[in-house]
Amino acid sequence: KDNHKFQQDLLAWYDENKRDLPWRKERDPYKIWVSEIMLQQTRVDTVIPYFQRFMDLFPTIHDLAEAEEETVLKAWEGLGYYSRARNLHQAVKEVSQSYGGQVPKTEKEIGDLKGVGPYTAGAILSIAYNIPAPAVDGNVMRVLSRIYTIYDDISKASTRKTFESIVRELISQDRSSDFNQALMELGAMVCSPTNPSCLLCPVQNHCSAKAEGVQDVLPVKAKK
Ligand code: ADE
Repeated sequence: KDNHKFQQDLLAWYDENKRDLPWRKERDPYKIWVSEIMLQQTRVDTVIPYFQRFMDLFPTIHDLAEAEEETVLKAWEGLGYYSRARNLHQAVKEVSQSYGGQVPKTEKEIGDLKGVGPYTAGAILSIAYNIPAPAVDGNVMRVLSRIYTIYDDISKASTRKTFESIVRELISQDRSSDFNQALMELGAMVCSPTNPSCLLCPVQNHCSAKAEGVQDVLPVKAKK
């Protein structure tokens, strides 16, 4: 597979078609972090006003670190999954105390923060710091399972690791931030769970699921 051509085709499409989302104007790792935590179990359209209000209330990592938990939970009200807010608050205090407010730049340090799993760690490192780390969520697994016709069960942790290895090979080294966001965007806008828009897809020529006509049976997800 020609990784460079894949990157070119994906990034050219992203440059023309990416949505104008508030966190895409940001390079502050704290803001990227908050957006990724909010986006974990909540739709983009719902997150946007919460993200903007949260940034008005807590514009810097120090503002959030110094806030009362009650105030933070109040700002989260309506988003649900409140452990996300509690973990974020605790992790932000940790960064404020142990790292002088600088979000760390290694997968190990960032992944040790409360509530920051491999996906969020990779999203922050790539989007904020342009470090070529994988950020593999359900959308990205769906896209890549189709590109490479991978039939592994995506609900298994070992499968996420398989996809992380693939992204480490495939990711653009100089545009890691855009590359990961372009994979997410493709999953959201084109490579949808049902009836994917293969004829509009910028990487259809790279897609073995399309070539074999099996896009509708991928990804494989075992019933719980
Ligand atoms: N879903 C998760 N992270 C996202 C991002 N950075 N942009 C759009 N959708 C997302």
